[in-house]
Amino acid sequence: MVAIDGPAGSGKSTVARALATALNWSFLDTGAMYRAVTTEVLACGVSPDDVDGVAAIASAAVIATEPVVRINGRDVDQEIRGAPVNQAVSAVAANPAVRAAMVSRQRAWVAAQTRGTVVEGRDIGTVVFPNASLKVFLTASLSERARRRGDEGATSVSRRDDADRARAVSPLRRASDAIVIDTTGRSIDEVVKEIVTCLKTPN
Ligand code: DC
Repeated sequence: MVAIDGPAGSGKSTVARALATALNWSFLDTGAMYRAVTTEVLACGVSPDDVDGVAAIASAAVIATEPVVRINGRDVDQEIRGAPVNQAVSAVAANPAVRAAMVSRQRAWVAAQTRGTVVEGRDIGTVVFPNASLKVFLTASLSERARRRGDEGATSVSRRDDADRARAVSPLRRASDAIVIDTTGRSIDEVVKEIVTCLKTPN
C-alpha cells in the first residue's frame, strides 16, 4: 500500500493514478470523498460550519469514487471541482465526525481490495494508514500548484492549504518516514518512476 500526501496541486491525484495504473493496483482519491460530502452539504442547504448537520450528512453518506464520483447515487464528478466546493471543503474536512466517517470508509475500502493500493490525501501516511509500506509526500512551488489548479487561483489554493495545515484534527503534514518529492518542473512519468524505484528498494 502506497500512501501519497501533499498540498493542493502538488500532483497527488495525477501521480497516484498513474502509479496505480503502472502497478495495476487500485487507486483511492480521498479528497474526492471530502468534496462529495461537501456537495451534499451544499445541496441540502446546510452551512459547512454546522458541525452536527454536516456530521449527520457524512455519516449517512454512501460514496463511490470510481468510475465517477457519486454520493447517495448522485453523479457529482463535475460539481466536486467547482468554486463553491473549493471554498467550503476545508471547513467540512476539519469536522472531526466527518473525518472519522471518511477514515473508516477508506480503511474498509483498502481491506476489500484484492490487489495493491495507492491512496492519496492529506493524512494517509500520518493517520489513516500509518503502517503503509511506502509513504510519499509531494510538494511543488505555489505558482506551479496554482497553475495546475487552473481556475481556482493562487489565493484560493493557498487559503485552502493554510486551513488544511492549521486544523486541529489530522492536519496536513509530512509523516516523519515519508519520502519527499518536489514535483515542480518534473514530469508525471519521472515522479512515478522515482516512486516505483523506492518501492523496489528494500529499506
Ligand atoms: O486533494 P483535494 O484538493 O481534492 O482535497 C480537497 C480537500 O479535502 C482539501 O482541501 C483537504 C481535504 N482533504 C483532507 O482533509 N483529507 C484528505 N485525506 C483528503 C483531502
